Amino acid sequence: MTTGPVPFVDFRPHVAAHRAEIDAAIARVLDSGWFILGPECEAFERELAAHFGVADAVAVANGTEALQLALEALGVGPGDEVVTSPVTAAFSAIAIERAGGTPVFADVDPATVAVTPESVEKAITPRTKALMPVHLYGHPVDLDPMLDLAQRKGLPLLEDACQAHGARYKGRKVGSLGPLAGLSFYPTKNLGAFGDGGAVLVSDTRYSERLRRLRNGGQSRRYYHDEPGINSRLDELHCAVLRAKLPHLDAWTARRRAIAAIYDRELADGAVRPLGEQPYAQSCYHLYVVRSPRRDALAQELHDKGIGTLIHYPVPLHLQKMYARLGGKVGDFPNAEQVVGEILSLPMYPELTDAQALAVAAAVRESR
Ligand SMILES: Cc1ncc(COP(=O)(O)O)c(C=O)c1O
Repeated sequence: MTTGPVPFVDFRPHVAAHRAEIDAAIARVLDSGWFILGPECEAFERELAAHFGVADAVAVANGTEALQLALEALGVGPGDEVVTSPVTAAFSAIAIERAGGTPVFADVDPATVAVTPESVEKAITPRTKALMPVHLYGHPVDLDPMLDLAQRKGLPLLEDACQAHGARYKGRKVGSLGPLAGLSFYPTKNLGAFGDGGAVLVSDTRYSERLRRLRNGGQSRRYYHDEPGINSRLDELHCAVLRAKLPHLDAWTARRRAIAAIYDRELADGAVRPLGEQPYAQSCYHLYVVRSPRRDALAQELHDKGIGTLIHYPVPLHLQKMYARLGGKVGDFPNAEQVVGEILSLPMYPELTDAQALAVAAAVRESR
């Protein structure tokens, strides 16, 4: 097959396909002469909330701060523990620490690479203040039992939906199932900015005002600082670009799912084990992840054929250098430790052609 190299991600066809709308959005902001917390931000927050079917949305500077500020709004502070996954972007745990709390990890189910209600329950202590499951790779965690657990323990549940724009749990969009959820608009995300961006989705509007205050230096009105918030405003340029992109998100999700179906079909012979979808889940395929006991050899062979892959993530968080001080050691979370040695993310973005997906799958099959 003559598809040429297949990079892990390529933004050029994405920009080219939407160039006119993006240029118009940028020009609108330049012409307005208003660059921070203006009409684009207000409109984006409204449109984002409507898209997710939630009451409100608060745009912030990145996904890490979306989670941090959501945790602060939920009351997390010094001495408090928040239970999350050891297999996620380290920024999930960093958000907990920046809110003043301590991350406590719960082992994952190797089939989903997600925390389970059982593992989360084991990690709960009297100091636990919130639960923060991660919809990793765009595949929802099994939320109903997790929400039951949260309710039984009287703990709020914050969805880390940074990778899960458009994923559905039993038909309902993730990000709308707990009181708050965090989104990231990092460029590779399913809804990506041309730079950093994030938002808190708000189902319980009791948190809205505090979130808006926290993202803007704790100001209740201009120059009146009620508490030391941070500067986590999402500027008008990013809001305008994201408004231009949002109407395409459903079509992009459908395209990602079509590519996943090609991979599923072409990789069904057992050369690798695609993670697949659980019966309750409709993944938005932020990433397409396979497991292989000879992962490193496979990645090298694909690289030699010009096919880009990445590992999300190679080091479970309890074994990261920064968490040596929390006493993490090998053996603490056996499933997480095993699975990070086997996972590999294949190219997955809406502009990937069928021919490219077929070429990637063929190269995976040839590598035995
Ligand atoms: C699961 C998860 N949580 C949190 C983050 C942090 O988001 P950001 O990079 O926008 O700060 C990311 C993205 O890096 C992520 O994938």
